[in-house]
Amino acid sequence: MRILLTGGCGFIGSAFVRLALSRGHEVVNLDKLTYAGNPANVAEVAGHDGYRFVHADIADAERVAEALDGVELVVNMAAETHVDRSILDPAAFPMTDVVGTAVLLGEARKAGVRRFVQVSTDEVYGSVPHGAFRETDPLDPSSPYSASKAGGDLQVLACHRTYGMDVVVTRGSNTYGPRQYPEKLIPLFVTNALEGLPLPVYGDGMQIRDWIHVDDHCEGVLHAAEHGVAGEVYNVGGGNELPNLDITHAILGLTGRDASLIRHVEDRPGHDRRYALDTAKLRSLGWEPRRDFTEGLRETVEWYTANRAWWEPIKSGEYLAYYREQYGARVGA
Ligand code: NAD
Ligand code: DAU
Repeated sequence: MRILLTGGCGFIGSAFVRLALSRGHEVVNLDKLTYAGNPANVAEVAGHDGYRFVHADIADAERVAEALDGVELVVNMAAETHVDRSILDPAAFPMTDVVGTAVLLGEARKAGVRRFVQVSTDEVYGSVPHGAFRETDPLDPSSPYSASKAGGDLQVLACHRTYGMDVVVTRGSNTYGPRQYPEKLIPLFVTNALEGLPLPVYGDGMQIRDWIHVDDHCEGVLHAAEHGVAGEVYNVGGGNELPNLDITHAILGLTGRDASLIRHVEDRPGHDRRYALDTAKLRSLGWEPRRDFTEGLRETVEWYTANRAWWEPIKSGEYLAYYREQYGARVGA
């Protein structure tokens, strides 16, 4: 099957490229190469016969139409993805996550692709104090990021109702693993700990996220693409609910640092307290997450320890400007 994957130079996208190629699919990776897109993430597959890279924006209808030649399945992972950036400067988020999605969807429909998979997030449901979100729960996003992702989901689901287009939406939980841009909790705290820098814990650090390994997330997306029912939504969660402070202490232990690096800083505005997903629907189709969190976190820390050449250049230039704006007043850095 020829797959058009968007955002394949990012964290989850690059893992999906490796998975899809290993299963014998052809992959056309269309990526705009924003600050989060890194060609090094796909360097090992660049010469693969079944792989092609297209440097383009999902909102560029002409380039998207060219890239869709011979494509059976579209997997849309391209997005602006960081909640904190969306709070500082929301403008780019609806441009890619809503408008870009709508353009890609429209071109996919015109090209007659067999199926369109929208890779979304558990954040569209908002915060859940007890229990776990099911796919039928209402959308209640808290941040400009999650509101934009919710807008993308609705564009995709509306295309199914209006045109009968074959679409599937996946909603993944907090994902961790190698090659995650060091603005998100785990790679930020691991790389800061390796450098002996403060770990800025928002508020009391007792917010809960449900963590899934990037390989389990990608398997879930591919499984939903291959076995999901048209017009349906599938939650993809790891079942590893942990408060941020527990993760922080685990990272300190794995990097040989102590709690003196922890700084409790001003909380994120609109911060969702807890995420949890009911994944019975995708499990009923035969998928399940396989990676143990303790082991996966240890391997992730080992990867960042062994791959300083990947993240040290990132933590300069644009990154430092963002870091100062986001954390300067909070940690006095
Ligand atoms: P990422 O930020 O690491 O990568 C995003 C990629 O999209 C980058 O390569 C970037 O260059 C590309 N991109 C951005 N705007 C684009 C545009 N207009 N046109 C083409 N390419 C563009 O993201 P990620 O963490 O790998 O997330 C991938 C997808 O999974 C996103 O849709 C995100 O909402 C979703 N998701 C992420 C998580 C998580 O914890 N990281 C969890 C659930 C869902
Ligand atoms: O739930 C899925 C979502 O997970 C994805 O859709 C998003 O793309 C992804 O960024 C992620 O969103 P979060 O906001 O949950 O992830 P982040 O890594 O930014 O934060 C995780 C938790 O850690 C959250 O409660 C905020 C907290 N945090 C984060 C940072 C960056 C801190 O306490 N300090 C920090 O410096």
